[in-house]
Amino acid sequence: MTTVIDGKKAATSVIEAVKVAAAGLEAETGVKTGLAVVIVGDDPASHTYVGAKGRMAKECGFNSIQHTLSAETSQGELARLVQSLNEDASIHGILVQLPLPKHLNSEPIIQSIRPEKDVDGLHVVNAGKLATGDLETGLISCTPAGAMLLVRSIHGEDLSGLNAVVIGRSNLFGKPMAQLLLNANATVTTAHSRTKDLASVAKGADILVAAVGRPEMVKADWVKPGATVIDVGVNRIDAPERGEGKSRLVGDVAYAEASDVAAAITPVPGGVGPMTIAMLMANTVIAAHRAAGRKPPKF
Ligand SMILES: NC(=O)c1ccc[n+]([C@@H]2O[C@H](COP(=O)([O-])OP(=O)(O)OC[C@H]3O[C@@H](n4cnc5c(N)ncnc54)[C@H](OP(=O)(O)O)[C@@H]3O)[C@@H](O)[C@H]2O)c1
Repeated sequence: MTTVIDGKKAATSVIEAVKVAAAGLEAETGVKTGLAVVIVGDDPASHTYVGAKGRMAKECGFNSIQHTLSAETSQGELARLVQSLNEDASIHGILVQLPLPKHLNSEPIIQSIRPEKDVDGLHVVNAGKLATGDLETGLISCTPAGAMLLVRSIHGEDLSGLNAVVIGRSNLFGKPMAQLLLNANATVTTAHSRTKDLASVAKGADILVAAVGRPEMVKADWVKPGATVIDVGVNRIDAPERGEGKSRLVGDVAYAEASDVAAAITPVPGGVGPMTIAMLMANTVIAAHRAAGRKPPKF
């Protein structure tokens, strides 16, 4: 029987632990965990994500602040806002929603967030800590942290002897995911668009992670029998069977056929997706504990 890895359930238990940790910190020290989310412009998808993050932060008992800036905001104005949030002791996590409007350069903005408040885990200091095996003092990018939690739910903490293949090498996901798997002692291959014979590389994986952005690219014959498959892709495709103009979400893995071969697999939606926001809350409460000089919770 194939195990369908339930990301919603895993995310709910992370959120429950965050609530307990935030309440405990506030009771002991009077510190209320603070998350500031900055959004620039009117992109509807970004507003939906930011709204969900703000609601979840409130549900976790955080002080949740949203800064909504117009699409005409200048680089300097945005930089000054980040600077003021860096200096605001009541804010423990700063998230600048990406993508920014085209006239703004996101990289210097992200790198100007104090690493200890970089709850998206995108600052080079946090990426560097992960790359050097320091998982204790940095903040880890939310989606790979969430995907790793799902891997651990199947294989435990120690992946010694297991081959892991990550398809995708983005700074946002592929690279940090590969680092997390390596830190857990897996033997890791990072594949990408220049990889030769991707299907056979993928078939060597005991843990196969797909983060490409190509609908149902990973077929059943790419999957080693008994493997764990983590599908990070979120792709919207036409679904005429649901009616005219309808669409549906699929991952980077051909779920129906791959789940006949895999021992454990994440669905899309309901797999990795819900973990991202949960790990953002986890990072924020970790940052608040550190700022208050308290031992942060582990997730
Ligand atoms: N919350 C979530 O659930 C969440 C969060 C983040 C991302 N995602 C999803 O995950 C997917 C990947 O996101 P990302 O930000 O990592 O994307 P990205 O920055 O576009 O990176 C995609 C990666 O896939 C590789 N790739 C592209 N075509 C390929 C092919 N034919 N064969 C092998 N590799 C190929 C690229 O290789 P090169 O480097 O060689 O170009 C690149 O490394 C997207 O569907 C995204 O929506 C979901």
